[in-house]
Amino acid sequence: MQKSVRLKSFELVARNIDDVDVNLLHALSLGVGWPHRPKDWDLLRRAGHGIVAVDGIGRVFGSAMWFPHGNDFATIGLVITSPRTQAQGNARWLMEQVFERCGDRNLSLNATDAAYKLYVSLGFTKEAIGYQYQGDVAPVLPALPPLNGELSELSGDRLEEIAALDTRAFGVNRGKLLALLSENASIRVLRRGGEAVGYSMCREFGRGHVVGPIVASNDHDAIHLTAVHLKDLAGAFARVDTRETGAFAEFLQQSRLAVSETVTTMSRGRRFLNLKDNEPRVYGLAGHAVG
Ligand SMILES: CC(C)(COP(=O)(O)OP(=O)(O)OC[C@H]1O[C@@H](n2cnc3c(N)ncnc32)[C@H](O)[C@@H]1OP(=O)(O)O)[C@@H](O)C(=O)NCCC(=O)NCCS
Repeated sequence: MQKSVRLKSFELVARNIDDVDVNLLHALSLGVGWPHRPKDWDLLRRAGHGIVAVDGIGRVFGSAMWFPHGNDFATIGLVITSPRTQAQGNARWLMEQVFERCGDRNLSLNATDAAYKLYVSLGFTKEAIGYQYQGDVAPVLPALPPLNGELSELSGDRLEEIAALDTRAFGVNRGKLLALLSENASIRVLRRGGEAVGYSMCREFGRGHVVGPIVASNDHDAIHLTAVHLKDLAGAFARVDTRETGAFAEFLQQSRLAVSETVTTMSRGRRFLNLKDNEPRVYGLAGHAVG
């Protein structure tokens, strides 16, 4: 009897990501070692749009999502193909479908090493390196710099207080996304002279908690806005995604978070990042997919 059999290759079609069972998406991300829980997929599906590559009996072999912010910008993420089907053109095909649906929007994404060459060949250019810091938070945080301003809790129904600040830091209005994230987040705001100059959110994600977005105008503010969440997570797993390398990054390391992966922030069309000294900027990402 034959010791092996070569199976015929099969065809994949694109389907709306909202139409598949979340457990199939969970299995897809687990297959590439990503930490998303079904709940995280559900939130991402509410935040954006996506397609999946399915076979004739509805099995999922790939995904790609996009998150429009207004009419001229979107971030792309959750680009995954199952290991068995990789290096056969699946991701390139999914990306072409995404481009078609995004129209002439400017685009940005955070590329893993595995995907970097694919995105370069699709017209994306490099802007910055992103660092995924994570680990069990130190039982005692490092000494903090003096606090300049008042740090307090912000209720999710008062997001208008940080909306303009966030738009200056992120570059476009992402109010809908912030409203979704705030549903299950603890939010802190830093005020000086009554004016909001920074904020941070912390929510459950993957293996523990993620602190992000973190928006501030300088390292010291960003450290306080992060520490206020990390102190409640002492000994627990936390993650912060940042493009910073200075005092903020040192603070994360001293809090026992370590870089587990690096990504490259890339854009296609208009440049995405516009960092200026003493202007509000995104110290902590909301997530790799949503920017
Ligand atoms: C990155 C990923 C989506 C690529 O999917 P894929 O289905 O293998 O991609 P494709 O077959 O369409 O290949 C696209 C190009 O990338 C190249 N490529 C694919 N895998 C690669 C790898 N591991 N390293 C280097 N290049 C790779 C291919 O050669 C191809 O180039 P070509 O079209 O010029 O021949 C897939 O490896 C994956 O899901 N990885 C884990 C999750 C991840 O990192 N996602 C990216 C998030 S930004």
